[in-house]
Amino acid sequence: MTTETPAPQGNTDQVFIFDTTLRDGEQSPGATMTHQEKLQIAEILDAMGVDIIEAGFPIASNGDFEAVAEIARRSKKSVIAGLARAIIADIDRAGEAVRHAQRGRIHTFVSTSPIHLAHQMKKTEDEVIEIITKTVTHARNLIDDVEWSAMDATRTPTEFLVRCTEAAIKAGATTINLPDTVGYSTPQDYYQLFHDVIERVPDSDKAIFSVHCHNDLGMAVANSIAGVRAGARQVECTINGLGERAGNAALEEIVMAIRTRGDALPYHTGIETTHLARASKVVAAAANFPVQYNKAIVGKNAFAHESGIHQDGMLKNAETYEIMTPESVGIKSTSLVMGKHSGRHAFKEKLKELGYDLGDNQFQEAFQRFKDLADKKKHVYDADIVALVDDEVGSASDRIRLVDMEVVSKTGGVHRCDMTLSIDGENSTVSVEGTGSVDAIFNAIKTAVKADPHLVLYGVDAVTGGTDAQANAHVRLEMNNRIVSGNAAEADTLVASARAYLNAYNRLLVERGASAQGALAG
Ligand code: KIV
Ligand code: ZN
Repeated sequence: MTTETPAPQGNTDQVFIFDTTLRDGEQSPGATMTHQEKLQIAEILDAMGVDIIEAGFPIASNGDFEAVAEIARRSKKSVIAGLARAIIADIDRAGEAVRHAQRGRIHTFVSTSPIHLAHQMKKTEDEVIEIITKTVTHARNLIDDVEWSAMDATRTPTEFLVRCTEAAIKAGATTINLPDTVGYSTPQDYYQLFHDVIERVPDSDKAIFSVHCHNDLGMAVANSIAGVRAGARQVECTINGLGERAGNAALEEIVMAIRTRGDALPYHTGIETTHLARASKVVAAAANFPVQYNKAIVGKNAFAHESGIHQDGMLKNAETYEIMTPESVGIKSTSLVMGKHSGRHAFKEKLKELGYDLGDNQFQEAFQRFKDLADKKKHVYDADIVALVDDEVGSASDRIRLVDMEVVSKTGGVHRCDMTLSIDGENSTVSVEGTGSVDAIFNAIKTAVKADPHLVLYGVDAVTGGTDAQANAHVRLEMNNRIVSGNAAEADTLVASARAYLNAYNRLLVERGASAQGALAG
């Protein structure tokens, strides 16, 4: 295997983008993604020019290991990283998972703050230094590219952080990450931390320094940029800012800030920014985390100008109110595209334009669903096709599928759902009542699968405008302390709701490796 270490920080104005959507992002409650979705996202990140993709935490589960290993095998340009605690078995598992990458990385971390040492690790500072030396040396014996992270670095005394960093570099770490794990830092603090550590560690030029910021106080992007200004040259971030609690720094915001404000931020990244909008949509659909309308760069309203004065200015010259163009992040102004007369060839071309490359079976199914939709809906927009295809990819491996459903709902009367599900290839039919149509549908599914997960969230939004718009339904289920989300787009709101529930339930089955019926009972 060949591995390449980027040039040390400070010598170059290139900022390396390390995407952790598939690891830190997936750790958000309910953001679990299927194997297929992870492969799809990794492919998009690789094509977009992400320098390092953290594909997962291989020791966490067989599913995580398989996803990292498969992403490593398929990777083209990106370095593929696997996360490992400072434990030999973790590091071996991560090394095994990234073994087949063109360029692989082991990313190992240990806590360094007094509060973590006292309460979580129950170790002294000297013991932590020994752990760093032992684990980083072990990782370097497996692979040339090793990243070491000081968990809770921003609440660690600088003096101890300097000792830890020195030990990690001496043991062979090629990247040093100083995360703001709890989102506590301010830009000034974070700048100072990097400045001091880089200055005081004797061999700091032998490694790239990296920022990794959580957004608990809404400062993740500002903090990341402050770290870069102090000499860090790797930014760890996620698409849509997905991540634990309030999330991580958003990749699209960092990249577009650097690109748009070259005057104040004299750096560059290797990201092809026209891929950002699609990456955002695919991640939002896979993780079932809708993007807020006013989210910078990728929100629905990010380029919408509503007020009269703004619209007037825009018509005269777009630069009056636009600091970057929608096209530069991959938002196309043409959205009316297809209809019921569009054929297979036109549909294939449209998929290509939207960045999809489906296999024969998936294409066939997507085309059939497009035709069904075009029969019901006069105008099929790009957003409809994206929802339809992402839905198809997300449910490709579902073990339980909706075969047929009939709902009867009467004002002040009964609400009944007759439903047939295919469960591992066998049909099961039930007829169940509820307090409303959706309640009857969800009760029917629970009866058929003989399980009763707790419904944490149910929501529906429209993919486009108009009463004939597709409904995008989101369902979040909880069982045995685990939360998963499901998503489905359909012309009919009730069918979308049923399929979203099934999509979530199927995810619980995949991760538990359980039998389909009654898997969740007890
Ligand atoms: O936030 C954090 O400290 C992390 C580490 C595992 C790098 O995600
Ligand atoms: Zn993190």
